[in-house]
Amino acid sequence: MPKITFKFEEKDKQPITVDISKGEIILDVAMDSDVELHHNCGAVCACSTCHIYIEQGADSLTEISEKEEDFVDRARNPKFSSRLACQCKLEEDVDLVVTIPDQSVIIGH
Ligand code: FES
Repeated sequence: MPKITFKFEEKDKQPITVDISKGEIILDVAMDSDVELHHNCGAVCACSTCHIYIEQGADSLTEISEKEEDFVDRARNPKFSSRLACQCKLEEDVDLVVTIPDQSVIIGH
């Protein structure tokens, strides 16, 4: 089974690695693993609070849509590796590494 490693911008948080199955969405795996990651719109691609950076395995995820690109552009500090976790479904049996931005500066729940 593929694994996903969550790394954190917040220096006091240690990386964690958990299982992820093909067809699963990164936000759901984060929630199930008690990884703090805001998701203010309820995972319908209508905010940018679930913004993450894909460090490894980006090609194994669903392609980014124009709508997602629009919201990524509004995220804090977007990079080439930016995605929205609620829109990232794993499509191949490949390990992923993602970085979670500092959640303390994101308002909401
Ligand atoms: S939770 Fe709002 S876009 Fe992902």
